[in-house]
Amino acid sequence: MSVREVRAIYPGTFDPVTHGHLDLVRRAAGMCSELVVAVLRNTEKAPLFDAEERAAMFAEALAEAGPAGVRVVAFEGLLAEYARAERATFVVRGLRAISDFEYELQMALMNRRLDPGLETVFLTPGEDVSFISSRLVREIARLGGDVSRLVPGPALDRLERLFGPGVRGGRR
Ligand code: PNS
Repeated sequence: MSVREVRAIYPGTFDPVTHGHLDLVRRAAGMCSELVVAVLRNTEKAPLFDAEERAAMFAEALAEAGPAGVRVVAFEGLLAEYARAERATFVVRGLRAISDFEYELQMALMNRRLDPGLETVFLTPGEDVSFISSRLVREIARLGGDVSRLVPGPALDRLERLFGPGVRGGRR
């Protein structure tokens, strides 16, 4: 199979999408012909935004400044099953720091146990964005802090609706 026919899947909660996620999409899109960004619907994390909002934010951010060949979907159930249904050859995950590694390794091995044909490829985000996490973005936004350089416009708009102008560095 040529590189042109490879479909990859980039799963996550993306609550909300950050510049770190977009950086990873740009890197991953160059490695496959189609990248499916798969937003988990039935997460145990009680997300700030529902799956449709999380997917919409990601899609809008990509429409503004994303590479071609990327599709955003919401999915539920097992990633391994969804990846098979999408005929994805590999899963893309970001590794920012050693602290990510244990969880990511366990997930990669478990997904391969569920589907021996499913490989996980880890990519390292750019060092300028590798400190960003959705969890910290939510925390800072909730406390009225400026997250305008951490997330793309569509996410910032929605965070502002929830938490006010402080998220843009404006007056609270
Ligand atoms: O952004 P996150 O929260 O780190 O992403 C985690 C995600 C969505 C990749 C993971 O929770 C997942 O794949 N969930 C789907 C259910 C599943 O397949 N669970 C077994 C994973 S080994």
